[in-house]
Amino acid sequence: MKQKNIIALALILLSSGFIFSACLPEKEAVVVEIKPTPEVNYTLEDVKGHKTKADCWQAISGIVYDFTPYLADAKHPGGDAMAKDCGTDATFRYENDPEHSDYAKSLLPEYAIGKLVVAEK
Ligand code: HEM
Repeated sequence: MKQKNIIALALILLSSGFIFSACLPEKEAVVVEIKPTPEVNYTLEDVKGHKTKADCWQAISGIVYDFTPYLADAKHPGGDAMAKDCGTDATFRYENDPEHSDYAKSLLPEYAIGKLVVAEK
């Protein structure tokens, strides 16, 4: 008898769980658009020509970024720490000083303007 009650209770709980979950709103799919890097090539010489906070290009891991709007909007949680790296290949500093989060990484594509290439001799 006791066993039957337990089974009945389990069935009630199970079916109410199904009913409850059917009433929940459907989860909306999160669409993440990844902006492709523009097919434009820049050399480190090109990057060096944009070395101020008001005109700031940086190369990070083979991609060239124009962070001028990011700095102008004072969006960087590390303040002006990144401004020192304008006009340089900032890969090492970006990855180690500090090691940036996945969130920081997700911000990069918006500022990508092209690829870093080695100048032809
Ligand atoms: C390459 C030069 C860079 C340097 C030296 C640098 C430096 C720093 C420092 C010192 C902090 C710590 C702030 C604190 O917690 O007190 C920080 C945090 C942060 N930085 Fe940078 N940064 C650089 C580039 C960037 C870039 C290019 C982005 C994105 C466009 C970025 C996004 C962030 C974000 C979102 C944080 C908050 C912590 C995290 O989510 O990782 N930084 N940065």
